[in-house]
Amino acid sequence: AIDISNLRGQTNHITLDPGYGNTGSCESGITFIDGDKGILRYRGIPIEEFADSPSFIEVAMLLINGTLPTAEEYASFSADLTRFANIDEGMKYHFQGFPRAAPPMAILSAMINALSCFYPELHELEDEQQFRQASARLISKVRTIAAYAYRHSKGLPYMYPHPAMRYVPNFLHMMFSQPYEQYVCPEIVSKALNLILILHADHEQNCSTSTVRMVGSSGANLFASCAAGVCALWGPLHGGANVEVLNMLEQIHQGNITPEEYVKLAKDKDSKVRLMGFGHRVYKNFDPRAQMLQKIAQELVPVLNRNDPLLDIARRLEEIALSDPYFVDRKLYPNVDFYSGIILRAMGIPTNMFTVIFAIGRLPGWIAHWWEQHQAPGSRIARPRQIYTGTTNAHYLPMEERN
Ligand code: ACO
Repeated sequence: AIDISNLRGQTNHITLDPGYGNTGSCESGITFIDGDKGILRYRGIPIEEFADSPSFIEVAMLLINGTLPTAEEYASFSADLTRFANIDEGMKYHFQGFPRAAPPMAILSAMINALSCFYPELHELEDEQQFRQASARLISKVRTIAAYAYRHSKGLPYMYPHPAMRYVPNFLHMMFSQPYEQYVCPEIVSKALNLILILHADHEQNCSTSTVRMVGSSGANLFASCAAGVCALWGPLHGGANVEVLNMLEQIHQGNITPEEYVKLAKDKDSKVRLMGFGHRVYKNFDPRAQMLQKIAQELVPVLNRNDPLLDIARRLEEIALSDPYFVDRKLYPNVDFYSGIILRAMGIPTNMFTVIFAIGRLPGWIAHWWEQHQAPGSRIARPRQIYTGTTNAHYLPMEERN
């Protein structure tokens, strides 16, 4: 803490913690991380226990409600998701206004915010029931919006959500079906995408979740707060890293640079290059999500896309980095973004949709945090302080006197 009482005319103590490396902004009962041991738990349940069975929606309900749903609760929430899956026909005009090349993350954020125009009655959530309504609408419609953003970029007609399909196959149907040909989702693809969404579902006070909480702390509604979360996630140091990993692997594959040269460049501070998909603010050990994704990549990629050279390049980069003192000393390990792009690519998902899929996955976490903060006794508007470094004694000069 810095005593600034004699400094810059301020009168109290301020903790200066750039990047909030040591600053807790809230108490939370949603997700537990032990970064030194590589442990991640949702509501106390180790992430590894989600590897086989549950649906993403079950995990979303766990995060949002605090407990695993009963069969009845699950059926009721799933029915809501089906009921709310369509977006207002008027929203399609918004899509048409965007250029074809518009980044889908920009469309996603704009459209989530636009949802708040259609549900003014859900701006002030008075009780649990209304909150459930708002979260079901958001989780369901985000999937439709994400798929339509892709269809728009391709100039394809929008496919309506299918009322009989589960969450993940329905998303892929809306992305890939044609009016004359229904997309048939291979079980392995549905399973892998389901797990990718689960592994991204929450990660305590990461940049986008903190953004959602911060925006929500001003009293902004759930839709507006989550739209802000999408913008925060978009950046290449956060969710956008999955795109950058693919670009890095492609660059190496095209022969522009070898894996060894890339790692060397990433160690050179002047180059401004980083080994994308490596390092984490909290994990100083293996990111358990990355380990699970590496396993899926090894199983899935050969089945769907025999011998993807990018997988071999990723493995080589990992091997070089993990035996290099630069990465070892700084405890830089592969993070969740290192392998997710390779898996999504094998499924036929275009690169510009990678971060959108991350956003679909992270949405339950954002919703859970927004609500937790909304409910917290004594919750205050988030308002960090600063150390002012500018001039304190200046005067206005009329324009004709400036030179
Ligand atoms: N490549 C090379 N050097 C790195 C990398 C990397 N990927 N990550 C960190 N470092 C180095 C830094 O240069 C710094 O070195 P120094 O101590 O000599 O100055 C040291 O490791 C610590 O790095 P910081 O930037 O201080 O760590 P911070 O916690 O602020 O950043 C972050 C974490 C943003 C994830 C960082 O590791 C990074 O940029 N990684 C690449 C991007 C990425 O993969 N992002 C996805 C993160 S996971 C997620 O959001 C889903």
